[in-house]
Amino acid sequence: MSTIITIDGPAGSGKSTVSKQLAGKLGYTFLDTGAMYRAVTWAGMRSGVDLNDTAAMTEVINSSNLDFQNSGGETLVTCRGEDISDEIRSRDVTEKVNAVAANPQMRNILVKMQRDFAARHGSIVTEGRDQGTVVFPDAMFKFFLDATLEERSIRRYKEFKAKGIDYDLDEIKKSIEKRDNSDIKRSSGPLKPADDAVRIDTSEMSVKDVVGYILNHIKSGAGRV
Ligand code: DC
Repeated sequence: MSTIITIDGPAGSGKSTVSKQLAGKLGYTFLDTGAMYRAVTWAGMRSGVDLNDTAAMTEVINSSNLDFQNSGGETLVTCRGEDISDEIRSRDVTEKVNAVAANPQMRNILVKMQRDFAARHGSIVTEGRDQGTVVFPDAMFKFFLDATLEERSIRRYKEFKAKGIDYDLDEIKKSIEKRDNSDIKRSSGPLKPADDAVRIDTSEMSVKDVVGYILNHIKSGAGRV
């Protein structure tokens, strides 16, 4: 039987790193749904269409042949065969992705893609904003990770630094805060914990601690039956 584990939370809460490691330890497939919103945004930008034009964006999705694969623990994203895994993480895409994330019709298409992905891959660890609430309400285990804005901004700052990108900490903080606000306030698939999600404040926890905590919880059999 397939098991679905959902990990939702705001930017910088640690959900990507934790989800990847958890999937690796359990032998499950990892699904990064943020990568899907980013890929659609990138494809729209590349096509030069208005990201708020639902009809044009639907056409972009239908003609882009977007594909999401696990490759060495990372998500390999391709658009018509072109590897766009790095491009979708650019600052430009990050700043524009809300046009796609806030559009209910775009969300409906992506929710369907996420459910199709689960149907094809069996047991998955899926991370995003609405995985436990909207996409997989019957998931066996649900977690919601959070951390203070300060801590989340510092994590992002360090990630950029490690990639050789100098990004001002205050700018990162403002950008995360803005994204949090749009994610929380949208009417369709807003960022919020499912009622039956286990909430974890990761502010003072290492990735190893969080993964260990989740694994213990799963092993204790405390999920749905
Ligand atoms: O997790 P991330 O930063 O890669 O996500 C990129 C954007 O996509 C984020 O601003 C919110 C949106 N998103 C969403 O609305 N629903 C999801 N399930 C995942 C991401």
